[in-house]
Amino acid sequence: PPFWVVIPAAGIGSRMRADRPKQYLQLAGRTILEHTLDCFLDHPRLKGLVLSLAADDPFWPALPCATDPRIQRVEGGAERADSVLAGLLRLVELGAQEGDWVLVHDAARPNLARSDLDRLLAELADDPVGGLLAVPARDTLKRIGADGRVAETVDRSLIWQAYTPQMFRFAALHRALADALVAGVAVTDEASALEWVGQAPRLVEGRADNLKITRPEDLEWLRQRWAHKH
Ligand code: C5P
Repeated sequence: PPFWVVIPAAGIGSRMRADRPKQYLQLAGRTILEHTLDCFLDHPRLKGLVLSLAADDPFWPALPCATDPRIQRVEGGAERADSVLAGLLRLVELGAQEGDWVLVHDAARPNLARSDLDRLLAELADDPVGGLLAVPARDTLKRIGADGRVAETVDRSLIWQAYTPQMFRFAALHRALADALVAGVAVTDEASALEWVGQAPRLVEGRADNLKITRPEDLEWLRQRWAHKH
């Protein structure tokens, strides 16, 4: 199906301990954000793409793609949900309709395979709710207790990691995020907002290497991988 994309990129990424937000760190000769945008920009069914940036972001204007007319920019907010909502408002101006599909994808996930994106679109095309790419937990999982000791072992067959893109209908996503924000509920991804209003998003198994760059070693791993690939 045709789809819109919102990329929240207004976060600070403090866990990277870098001199700039992580999406502006270098990977294979360009910034992480440029690679992320490339995952979508030439897709034949893309209707439009909105990028949510921090108000005073000094790094974006320096990129070659800053003047790309296919990329609409909006100012993000304090929480991820604010940044995504700002993107959705711009989509209204671009002509998005209530039932249109919107994909939300982390700026710091540059290694999304086209095959994963297309499988998400195909598997959810007729779904009443929508869903997200996710990966089954691989390791044995422990709940941590006092003094860094194991409190219990969790049944890993029931645990998946939430990845992005996350794919929902425009109106449902907008309403769920707005309600969650008003209620002060912490939503760290879009699916949590849908869950909070009683929906059950579908999990579509994706590749584990569509990782979110969070810590320095994540970026190091991807740099080495891409050095072999290119
Ligand atoms: O911090 P974390 O890695 O969970 O952020 C996920 C994504 O949400 C990042 O792309 C980040 O830039 C974005 N974000 C945002 N606005 C915020 C906080 C995070 O756009 N206020």
